[in-house]
Amino acid sequence: MKIDVLTTFPEMIEPVIKSSIARIAIEKGLVSIKPRDIRVFSEEKHQKTDDYPFGGGDGMVMTPKPLFSAIRHCLEEAKPEVPRIIFPTPDGKVFTQEMAKDFSKESYLLFICGHYKGIDQRVRDVWVTDEISLGDYVLTGGEIAALVIIDAVIRLIPGVIGTLNSALSDSFSHPLLDCPWYTRPEEFEGLKVPEVLLSGHHAKIEEWRLEQRIKKTREKRSDLYDKWLIKQTKEKK
Ligand code: ADE
Repeated sequence: MKIDVLTTFPEMIEPVIKSSIARIAIEKGLVSIKPRDIRVFSEEKHQKTDDYPFGGGDGMVMTPKPLFSAIRHCLEEAKPEVPRIIFPTPDGKVFTQEMAKDFSKESYLLFICGHYKGIDQRVRDVWVTDEISLGDYVLTGGEIAALVIIDAVIRLIPGVIGTLNSALSDSFSHPLLDCPWYTRPEEFEGLKVPEVLLSGHHAKIEEWRLEQRIKKTREKRSDLYDKWLIKQTKEKK
């Protein structure tokens, strides 16, 4: 998979790529990731990439010209590959594991990282295929959001992580949240690992894990719990 990240802060992308699952994916030759500085495509004085909003209002908007040029440059370079063009933004669709799976099947993702008030609407209208929000809060820019999406997507590419089972059994790959996990020692500062996990009784362990998932989901995510209940009821019919 090829990933381009259009940003005015390329220095934010590099260190994360170098110290995350992305590095492993790159080393295995499964992914290439390029941060690309939008300023390079600006023809303005001081490589300016933003301006005041028409109609007034606080904050700045990223101008269309350098973004159109940067996108065209990436498309030209990647021909005949056609990207999903992802714009992380708080007014997009909320990112889910399903979306991560969908993106992981693509051969080319192009991220546009906005700052300030966002980007000129014409960039969104002409180029963006997916407007993605990480949740109902506002980050300072799209870089951290793009990195989150990249991390969630890359780990689903076959061959990137050793145990596919681990990725598949995560919370959200299943309608229920994940169960608690323990490792050595059996007792730590008086805190004991649940007896059943030491029993060697696989059926009982699986039963306990499912109970824990149900309990956690009911307590923390009633929306997911209700979905799971409906699914269970349908499957029993
Ligand atoms: N950029 C700023 N806030 C964001 C959010 N919540 N999700 C995605 N991108 C963003």
